[in-house]
Formats: sequence, C-alpha cells, structure tokens
Amino acid sequence: MSQLWTGQELLVATAGRPLGRLPENVTGISIDSRSLKPGEAFFAIKGDRVDGHDFASSAMGAGAGLLVVAEAKLPALGRLAMPMIVVPDVLEAMVAVGIAARARSKAKIIAVTGSAGKTTTKELLRVALAPSGKVHASDRSFNNHWGVPLSLARMPADTDYAIFEIGMNHAGEIRPLVRMVRPHVAIVTLIAAAHLGHFKNLDEIADAKAEIFEGVEKDGNALINRDDERWKLLEKKASAVGIEYVWGFGEHSRAQFKLVDFAPGEGGSTFTARIAGKDHAVTLAAPGRHMARNALAALGAASLTGADVDKAAAMLASFAPDAGRGRKHRLRHPRGTFTLIDESYNANPASMRAAFELLAATPVGKNGRRIAVLGDMLELGDHSAKLHAGLAEPLAAAGVDKVLLGGPEMAVLDGKLRETMAVEYLPSVDELEPAVLSAVRPGDVLMIKSSNGIGFARIVQALLRQFPAAAGERRAAATKERGDHQHAHDAG
Ligand SMILES: Nc1ncnc2c1ncn2[C@@H]1O[C@H](COP(=O)(O)OP(=O)(O)O)[C@@H](O)[C@H]1O
Ligand SMILES: [Mg+2]
Repeated sequence: MSQLWTGQELLVATAGRPLGRLPENVTGISIDSRSLKPGEAFFAIKGDRVDGHDFASSAMGAGAGLLVVAEAKLPALGRLAMPMIVVPDVLEAMVAVGIAARARSKAKIIAVTGSAGKTTTKELLRVALAPSGKVHASDRSFNNHWGVPLSLARMPADTDYAIFEIGMNHAGEIRPLVRMVRPHVAIVTLIAAAHLGHFKNLDEIADAKAEIFEGVEKDGNALINRDDERWKLLEKKASAVGIEYVWGFGEHSRAQFKLVDFAPGEGGSTFTARIAGKDHAVTLAAPGRHMARNALAALGAASLTGADVDKAAAMLASFAPDAGRGRKHRLRHPRGTFTLIDESYNANPASMRAAFELLAATPVGKNGRRIAVLGDMLELGDHSAKLHAGLAEPLAAAGVDKVLLGGPEMAVLDGKLRETMAVEYLPSVDELEPAVLSAVRPGDVLMIKSSNGIGFARIVQALLRQFPAAAGERRAAATKERGDHQHAHDAG
C-alpha cells in the first residue's frame, strides 16, 4: 500500500507524545480492528457501544503500524510493544489529522448533505469524476462527528477531487464538520422529514442543513435542489453567509443544472442533463426520477469543479445502486420471473414517495402485480402517525395492487388502506417474511422498503435465498453496509 502519512506527520498534526520508533510509512487510518489492514494507524476512539482502547491488542495483532491512544488509558493497555502516539483525546487527535489532510490538499472538495440521497449523490460523484482525476470519497455513510474527520484523515495528498457526506440528527452538528471539510461546492439534495423527531418542522430541518454553507470556501458554490419547497429559504441562507454563487439543480425552469425528458426504462432511466447550456444524454443504471435528480446534482458539482462533464455524464451508465438503495433483482420463480426492488436500507416520507414512483414506473409481467412491502419509518417523533397515514394517498396514486405492512408504526396505515386496497398487516419481520415469500407470483414487481432498523433486509435475503437469479442477472454482492457494530455512523 502506498503511503498516506508518515508517523512524524501524524505526531505533528496531533501534537501528541511519541512512544517507540514511529513508522516512516503509515498506509491508512483505521478505527476498527476487524477491518484494519497491515501498516495502518489505529485510532482508539470511543464509539457508542465500545471503546477502541479495548481493541488495541487486536489492532496490533491485525498488523497496525501505529496506535493513537489516550493518555488516561495508557496504564490499562499494559505493555504493548509497538509505536504509539499518546494524546489527551483520540477523537480530537483524529480531527486534527483530518484538518491537516485538508490543509495539505489541492483537491476540489465537494460536501453533500440533505434528508435523502447523500450517499447516492456521493457515490455518483465518485464514479462520475473518475475520468477527471484521482478521487477520494467518504466510505459508506461515514457522515457524523467521527465519520467526517475519519474520511478527511484518509484523503491522500495527491487527491484531485474529494467528496464528503455530512449528516446530522440535531441542529448544530453540521457546522463544525463542514468547517473541517471547507468545500468548494456544498450540495443540499433535499429537505424532508428524516429524523424529524428532533425538529418541530421542515423549516427547522432546512435551517440545520443550511449550516453546510458556513464552511464553504471563499469563491465557493452552493448547489441546491431547485424543486425543493425550501429552495428559497436555503438560497437566502447561502447568500446570507456570503456565498456568491448559488445554483439550482432539478426540473425547475430556473435550474442551471436541468433535468429534461426523463424517461424511465427497465432497470434504469434515460434523460437529458442540461449543464451550462449544453445537453448531455444520460443513461442511468439506477431506476427512479429521484436518482436522476441526484445525477443532476452530481453533474452540476462536476461542472462547478471544472471536471470533464462529457465524461462524467458518460460514466453514470456504469453506476449501480448499493444493496438496500433501489437495487433491482430479477429472480426466478418456479413458473416464471419476477422483479425485486430492494429499498430496505432507509425510509422517510420523501424516499417512500420516490420508491412508490419507481414501483409505478417498473413494468409488470403477464398477470403481474405491483406489491409494496413497507415497514416503519423511524425517528419521526410526534409526527410519526400522521406521516405513516399520509402514505395512503401516494400509494393509491402509484397503482399499487397489494400492500404488505410490518412494524408497529405501520398499523395506522393498515387502518387507512383497509377499505381501498388489498392489504396485510403482520407486526413483526418474523411473521412478515413467510407471508412475502408465499405472496410473490411470476410477473410481479415487489418493492421492499423500511428504515434499516426495522430489519427488512432479512426479507430481501430470504427472497434471494429462496429464488435464484434469473438468466443474465448478475447476483449482487451481499449487503455491505450493515456490519458496523462498533460505531453508528449514519445521520440524516
Ligand atoms: N433524491 C432523492 N429523493 C428521494 N429519495 C431518495 C433520493 N435519493 C435517494 N433516495 C432514497 O433514499 C434512500 C437513502 O438513499 P441514500 O443515498 O443512502 O441517502 P442518505 O445517505 O441521505 O441517507 C434510498 O432508499 C433511496 O432510494
Ligand atoms: Mg448516507
């Protein structure tokens, strides 16, 4: 592995105390001994459930080249015969390394926030910018108080483009993170009732997301969803902190990065992206109008950072959504094939509506039906019942034939749908799973969506076990974003 830092550079950045001979070549930054690769520096940060110091010897066993540990924890570590940097606080040390990474970087920096579509937009940018230079991006949804500094600390010195996801559960959380990132372009994907539990209304959420503008570099850009109801509020906030260049992406006639002629197709969509007066024909291998919107945000940011937009637009055809975020599978039933749309990673009122639209746009086979398997949207606080009941209308509009519901919050939607639709309510995943397996028939399109915490990924896994992939279908890799036991990293 190539060098990311020298031990000496980390010592200077953290202003720590060295123990032993610091390595010349540090190949990476790790906070999890299970995924640590030889030569990396292990930062023993305290997670929600465990303390990294308890894994110092595992990190050593996994081949760590350096440990960064807290002074107070040093006596308890015993005699680990390996180089260390001892600091007052390990998270603060990691923040310092993140700031040092930003300080040495000549990269064009893009920050992404919003109530949905952050990870997707970040991953679209990772793909789209690849032909224009060396790209670095946050891992998974590493978007919180430790995810952002970790992602920064991992940025190689020779990066040309870097994309960082920034999330929040409370007001005030984005501000310190974006001040570390100092983006040239700050994207707000959309404002919706995600994590509304901690907020009175959507305006308050927009205010909290708008903190992202406070870290934008001089002469930098704000890139905001032009179709969002809070566009004006966000635009004002961006201007108020002195951002001169505020841009819109979307379908609105005034959007500078404009989505036109959207046409859904099998397994994806085609559309035109009008960027700086030039039309780009885009084929996106990820289905749904919301994905096209994310793509416009990505192409807008590509344009604003001086990347090759022609190549960026062409690259989008090779993007494939992650498990749980709209990935489509064609599966073999004993008597034909059916389509499974896996949306099991995340759900809020906006992404539910996007998913219904996607379900409506997906063609069914002969005698096939559109079936929605829906679980709770979490963290909606006092608004929860109303927002769950509010799904009835868009569900009906999407021409859904059958609905299977699970999770305590979905009971209200069950009540609302009873008169108008074929609906089954089974409170737990254990009860719902066999019902889904036996409900599906050839020709159907089955869409599974819930907040990750509800566990609907298990229903997806059960379907993938029971029904083999149809001919010509590449079996997707197992879900990759569910295994972070040590640290919860995903804020909205
Ligand atoms: N622009 C969008 N509008 C509405 N829903 C979206 C949008 N982009 C993605 N989604 C949906 O939101 C869910 C989470 O997407 P993701 O990109 O992981 O968002 P985040 O990182 O903000 O949590 C997925 O189910 C996806 O289909
Ligand atoms: Mg995310």
